[in-house]
Amino acid sequence: MMKMDKRTDYCGNITSKYEGIEVTLFGWVQRVRNLGNLVFIDLRDREGIVQVVVNKDSGKELMTIADELGSEYVIEVKGKVVKRSSVNPDMKTGEVEVDATKIDILNKSKVPPFEIKDDITAAEQTRLKYRYLDLRRPTLQKAIILRAKILRAVHEFFDENGFIDIETPILGKSSPEGARDYLVPSRIYPGSFYALPQSPQLFKQLLMGAGFDKYYQLAKCFRDEDLRGDRQPEFTQIDMETSFLDEKGVQDYTEGLLKKIMKDVMNIDLKTPIKRITWTDSMNKYGCDKPDTRYEMFIHDLSPIFKDSDFKVFSGAIADGGYVKGLAVKNGAKQYSRKKIDEKADYIKRYHAKGLAWVKYEDGEFSGPVSRFLTDENKEALIKEFNLEGEELVVFVADNWKVCCDSLNHLRREFAKETGIIPKDVYDFVWVVDWPLFEYDEGLGRWIAAHHPFTMPDDEGIKLLDTEPHKAHARSYDIVMNGDEMGGGSIRIHKRSIQEKMFKALGFTKKRAYEQFGYLMDALDMGFPPHAGLAIGLDRFAMMLAQKDNIRDVTAFPKNANASEPMMHAPAPVTDQQLEDIGIQVDPAFEKSVKDTEARLEQEAAEDAAKNATWDED
Ligand code: AMO
Ligand code: AMP
Repeated sequence: MMKMDKRTDYCGNITSKYEGIEVTLFGWVQRVRNLGNLVFIDLRDREGIVQVVVNKDSGKELMTIADELGSEYVIEVKGKVVKRSSVNPDMKTGEVEVDATKIDILNKSKVPPFEIKDDITAAEQTRLKYRYLDLRRPTLQKAIILRAKILRAVHEFFDENGFIDIETPILGKSSPEGARDYLVPSRIYPGSFYALPQSPQLFKQLLMGAGFDKYYQLAKCFRDEDLRGDRQPEFTQIDMETSFLDEKGVQDYTEGLLKKIMKDVMNIDLKTPIKRITWTDSMNKYGCDKPDTRYEMFIHDLSPIFKDSDFKVFSGAIADGGYVKGLAVKNGAKQYSRKKIDEKADYIKRYHAKGLAWVKYEDGEFSGPVSRFLTDENKEALIKEFNLEGEELVVFVADNWKVCCDSLNHLRREFAKETGIIPKDVYDFVWVVDWPLFEYDEGLGRWIAAHHPFTMPDDEGIKLLDTEPHKAHARSYDIVMNGDEMGGGSIRIHKRSIQEKMFKALGFTKKRAYEQFGYLMDALDMGFPPHAGLAIGLDRFAMMLAQKDNIRDVTAFPKNANASEPMMHAPAPVTDQQLEDIGIQVDPAFEKSVKDTEARLEQEAAEDAAKNATWDED
């Protein structure tokens, strides 16, 4: 590293290797302990904390300054690194301290609204309003630095492998497939709008048409969708596209990338090839398409066991074309009281389950309300199916396939957390392959592309496009880690005739398909190479590696759960002139909402000014 500044090193790096050396440090005052003739200052920067000492021998002037210091004052310290009389083994810098000879206060600080330390109870809104303070906390500093390390590894990997970093536009065209777009009004064409990209999908495909053959980009994406812990309205994808590669080719590059990131960032040797599971197996064993493969506790189809059961809930569901599925919770018999199980039954109602049946198996005996319906054969079959050893709770859901999958997936995750079977510090990757090409969207009441409309069906699927498109399978793949979707991709359609059939199957008219994607279909006609790619959600990946529950914690300036940003106050109303420029009028129905927001922002500004401003207005 080039030596460019006055600073000798970061506070957190001042270890015994600096003993006897005069150092210059910059940092924030974490804490001051004034013992009268001795003042201890904990000085903090992004690398950690070092103890600075001022004593009477340092002179009156220095003692006066030390006396004046408060939390979060930002100071420059000169001094000599000396051995500490009492070593603090919990600190990296704990063997030494800095005997100060000079302290300059570079700026004072008011008392911050929350303490700058890892475990705080401040509300999220407060943390985001003072995000620059929140970001001073070591845990967030570490997470943001970890994210930067991932970015570094990504650039190095793609560069070493001949990929070209190409930026694609942020101002694009709206395409109603997928999530809702963020729109940007045009001033030059009032009434027309750009859309912010949900992903660079079509641009990267067109770059393959342009002959770049290996593309990557750290791409900003924007999706106006309901937010969750692992979703932000704007996020970053590690986006790549390649020509002439098949599934294995793309997956090999992805595995190479993941291997490098895991090594560089976590010092973990990721074993490759990463295991694969088909979508159907994943749904049946884990109840979902993003299986948590760190532990077993598989879902079992018990329909063959219960098809003739006297328990009508079971046999009735099967007779109606449904299933009885279940899972066994090892050591769950004692841990789960009837009340706790009832809570679980309530919990899965949100996944449309009608109830939760259960039995316990302890000391060779079945108990619980449903046990009286179990025949000896049923009992024997259950013991065999789940390899029951005693101490298990076995739960059952009788319903259609989807409800069984959804509710048992969520139960499985809850039971795993609560019974402590999830191994710590394990990063378990799996490829989910062989997806359906389409999925039925209950909300929209129609079939949509399971991945996106540019995904190639498999050979059988191409034939089905004309007859029974919804049975087709796709040449797509997701990369999943610890039960969360990290990324996804596919072989793309590079033949116009197949792309047309795909649009048709999605219910497009010819006119609408050409209005929206005519340029793509034209391009496919002009020597377009076969191509494939994938995108990894950087924020999600960073969140998992930083062991955070929310991607806000690995994003420097995130939006809150209501998609707003409480520090700069985005979104916010704009001036009448700005609206006039773009030919937009706010619908009178929303006028109240605009006025309320304006009033709220004005009030906040007035309060902040009253608290903080030190200048007089004329
Ligand atoms: P997809 O829509 O699956 O694929 O997105 C790829 C990955 O991006 C991440 N992601 C998000 N992260 C944070 N907040 C969000 N709102 C959000 N939405 C998605 C996920 C997801 O796996 N163009 C295709 C990829 C391709 O085919 O190459 C695409 O965007 O981790
Ligand atoms: P019921 O016959 O409705 O009184 O239900 C008897 C037991 O079966 C209760 O414990 C219910 O929670 C459970 N149950 C009801 N419907 C289902 C279902 N579809 N799947 C699994 N268990 C159910």
